[in-house]
Amino acid sequence: MNCTMEKSKIQMLYDACNDVFSQKELPTFQQIQWLKSILNIFEAADVGIDEFSLDGSPSSSPKITNGLISGQGVSEITYIHIHECDNFSMGIFCFPAGRTLPLHDHPGMTVLSKLLYGSVYVKAYDWVQAGTNSPRTNGLAGTVINGIFNAPCESSVLFPRSGGNIHSFTALTPCAILDVLSPPYSDDFERPSTYFFDFPIPSLPGYALLEERELKLPYDVVVNGAPYLGPPLDVGQDVC
Ligand SMILES: [Fe+2]
Repeated sequence: MNCTMEKSKIQMLYDACNDVFSQKELPTFQQIQWLKSILNIFEAADVGIDEFSLDGSPSSSPKITNGLISGQGVSEITYIHIHECDNFSMGIFCFPAGRTLPLHDHPGMTVLSKLLYGSVYVKAYDWVQAGTNSPRTNGLAGTVINGIFNAPCESSVLFPRSGGNIHSFTALTPCAILDVLSPPYSDDFERPSTYFFDFPIPSLPGYALLEERELKLPYDVVVNGAPYLGPPLDVGQDVC
């Protein structure tokens, strides 16, 4: 990277993640606050997305206008991959209104998220007893989040055993969420992605039984891919 150029926000985020998540220890409170403060300044255009315009009707393949992905132009949930290494991954989920990413977990992970635009209903749980190291597949969970988020809003964070590690998103309007996962999903390292049904317990408000869905990605959920069109990342110092 040319050092005379101002660093892009995504480069700032990448560099900070590289610092924090390459260490052996878990991130400190101050480090998490630092990452959240960087995520807080992100807008859709910083990651190559035009949140406003729509040329024609939404389609399943990404629409690109003036070098930006049209956030209003996706007809299915669309994942834009930015970066992945051994220690963390970065990407964006773009949602059309009405689509749901069902309950899924983040085993052993810290996840930072920033709603870039739009409005989303979030439901999130933590296991009541998260004593084992291997990912849980069913049992009692407590509700951590059950509410609507409207952009602009603060970035959020979840941890392996707190903060709502198992969550779902339902887009109330077209919306997009920038995610940082550390470490990334990995079947090889017992960090698979598991999807769940939740069954609220009428006699126990605030709790639900979670049950693993059989399919890795439920048949009724479509996640398409789209290219990352934001500022290029310099990963030359990548220690991953
Ligand atoms: Fe998630």
